[in-house]
Amino acid sequence: MDRIALVMHTTSYGTAGFVDACRRAGAEVTIASDRCHVLDGAWRWPADSLVIDFGDPEGAAEIIASAAKEPGGALAAVLPVGGELPARVASLAAGRLGLPANPPGAMIAAANKLEMRTRLAAAGANGPDLPGLSGLPELSDLRQPLFVAVARTADPREVAEMVRRPGGVGFPCVVKPLMLSGSRGVLRADDPATLTAALARVARLLADPAVRHIDPVAADRILIESFIPGREVAVEGLLTRGVLEVLAIFDKPDPLDGPTFEETIYLTPSRHPADDQARIARALAAATRALGLETGAVHAELRLDGGAPVVIEVAARPIGGLCARALRFDGGLSLEDVVVRHALGGDGHPIRERRPSGVMMIPIPARDPAVLRSVRGLEEARGVPGIDDVIISVRPGETVVPLPDGASYLGFIFASAETPAAVETALRTAAARVSFDLAPLVPVLR
Ligand SMILES: Nc1ncnc2c1ncn2[C@@H]1O[C@H](COP(=O)(O)OP(=O)(O)O)[C@@H](O)[C@H]1O
Ligand SMILES: [Mg+2]
Repeated sequence: MDRIALVMHTTSYGTAGFVDACRRAGAEVTIASDRCHVLDGAWRWPADSLVIDFGDPEGAAEIIASAAKEPGGALAAVLPVGGELPARVASLAAGRLGLPANPPGAMIAAANKLEMRTRLAAAGANGPDLPGLSGLPELSDLRQPLFVAVARTADPREVAEMVRRPGGVGFPCVVKPLMLSGSRGVLRADDPATLTAALARVARLLADPAVRHIDPVAADRILIESFIPGREVAVEGLLTRGVLEVLAIFDKPDPLDGPTFEETIYLTPSRHPADDQARIARALAAATRALGLETGAVHAELRLDGGAPVVIEVAARPIGGLCARALRFDGGLSLEDVVVRHALGGDGHPIRERRPSGVMMIPIPARDPAVLRSVRGLEEARGVPGIDDVIISVRPGETVVPLPDGASYLGFIFASAETPAAVETALRTAAARVSFDLAPLVPVLR
């Protein structure tokens, strides 16, 4: 029987979907996670669970690779569930075991936004106004924002000067951490005053020890990019020996113009014209090539700036949260089924089921951290035609932290219908029926 290691944070939403997919593929599961140290001291975990520290990716990969050498522990695949660090550790472990894996440098670039921008630039990517530089036809579709990295402690006045001067990134711009996700710490700035405030906010976030633990070197820098206007799409894809297959393009119908970039609705199939969709697929293929990614799931965001796709971000993992549930493939396969089968060497070409579908991440209706007291209207929301499910991912009594400091959502709404427009209407109608009683946290004086 095959055995698959799933690499995840203990808090990962997507675990159940992957465990089920492994079982359906007839594989046993080893879980590698940063389990709770309190329970670790008091509880005997099943033998097939491994404790790893994401602060030490090489060490974590070694723990997984060593376990695979134990009798009965041989691994057929190592897959990440959730964020960039699990993806990096899973790929390092797969590489050590001689399984198909992305090169370590490519995984570093996929987990570090400055590294990603630098690699794309080296491959000839450019800002939206510049002609192609590389001369390589397959990379001529590659565009990305202008960018510059500054020290976390840089003088905001000097940074504003650098942004404004000719050849600089220019205003409006976007300020972001190098190694966070879920739009955490991503802020738009329109002028020196808002840039100064954004830099201070991101610097404070990057001073948090829990954030620094992820990557203390990356936490000492801040990335500034030119703001790319236009509609955003998310793309789900699968790489096989460097060749990209697009599984789905999601439209994001809500404008994402800042100052924070809260994800809300994802709809598929895309309503963009077929040639725009083809350009999006070519741009992402060029980006994965430039980054050196070769195998497994990719999840990317691009913006259509006057029809030209601009790469915002490429992650070497499937879509996060519970959003994968908005996708179904022929034969009733889930996205996790597709990823697991691919990792086990299956060579099918998964086709998304035709019915339009979508998901809404429920934003936090508060500006400051708050405690969830209660949720109302769930049954009414579930009763809206087209709604497949409403899942609240926060329990009463838990604290939610809105963007830019946190990256939590209150839950997910799933819908499917005859047209993407009907899916969108169903999601908005259901969202309007759910209400949350949130109690503000008492401010702490420092
Ligand atoms: N240069 C940019 N121009 C316009 N919007 C941007 C830019 N960079 C980020 N954004 C917006 O912020 C969101 C989050 O940024 P991203 O770089 O993808 O970080 P994260 O890893 O947190 O998802 C994007 O999906 C996009 O909506
Ligand atoms: Mg992103």
